[in-house]
Amino acid sequence: MCVLQVFFIESVCEDPEIIAQNIVQVKLNSPDYVDCNTEEAVQDFMKRIRCYENSYEPLDEVMDRDLSYIKVMDVGMRYLVNRVMDHIQSRIVYYLMNIHITPRSIYLCRHGESKLNIRGRIGGDSGLSPRGKQFAVCLGKFIQEQNIKDLKVWTSQMKRTIQTAEALDVPYEQWKALNEIDAGVCEEMMYEEIQEHYPLEFALRDQDKFRYRYPKGESYEDLVQRLEPVIMELERQENVLVICHQAVMRCLLAYFLDKSSDELAYLKCPLHTVLKLTPVAYGCKIESVSLKVEAVNTHRDKPENVDFCRLAKEALLTVPTHQ
Ligand code: F6P
Repeated sequence: MCVLQVFFIESVCEDPEIIAQNIVQVKLNSPDYVDCNTEEAVQDFMKRIRCYENSYEPLDEVMDRDLSYIKVMDVGMRYLVNRVMDHIQSRIVYYLMNIHITPRSIYLCRHGESKLNIRGRIGGDSGLSPRGKQFAVCLGKFIQEQNIKDLKVWTSQMKRTIQTAEALDVPYEQWKALNEIDAGVCEEMMYEEIQEHYPLEFALRDQDKFRYRYPKGESYEDLVQRLEPVIMELERQENVLVICHQAVMRCLLAYFLDKSSDELAYLKCPLHTVLKLTPVAYGCKIESVSLKVEAVNTHRDKPENVDFCRLAKEALLTVPTHQ
């Protein structure tokens, strides 16, 4: 029998400065205030809050002592946690205690073009191509120009991300969890070779790219799990540049842009392009900056025919061109 556990989350904010900021950042865009100036809208919303207060019933420390809940006060200045009953509830508490609303941006990019990228080979641990090195230098300039306060730089433990970060001439931190998806028996193969040697596997991946696990390797679903600590730490941090890989960047992007698992595996993350994510109310603003250094395309769209008995030609229809 499945017992439904209810967990309450209450957010109480009494700090007038935070309330005023919230009204300006969030409520002014509401259709209610289309033709109002800021001052009018703030006044009106303050009145609304007073009306809500008349009927709002807060969780009560004594009367609600049997309920499971977290009360967040003044956007994380204080918390009251009561009767956490299971793993999910403790994860919710952990998450809520780690997020913050300090304005900041997260910069995501892939490593510079690698030697294996040029040859259309997936995975491996090759170094940067000459264009990849050029990108690393441009990335350094771009980051300097942005003049970002206390920027942290994170890479994977793979040569291509480390070489990219080295050109920035700033301290960086390596995360094993940021390594590219492990393609198992298909590591260092071209998509054409996967089709030739493992046509069934290739079709299975096209049928459900998110859940498909390479033999002796990983699936996107595995990757999402592997990245959980990275995401949690990103939530805790302020400005961060993450230099990662195609599949990893898709997972991080999907988290911040709230994309479904089906969309995730096909998100476009071209080489030599930086995505700047800025959390705003109810979402993330995204800016894409191409650093204008040419690179090979590594994005393979889902082909129309994903059947096991498709022709090789049909399976390879969307493979990007390479050397
Ligand atoms: O081709 C570059 C790469 O980063 C590979 O190392 C990796 O296997 C692949 O992209 C992931 O992309 P996809 O899931 O679309 O094959």
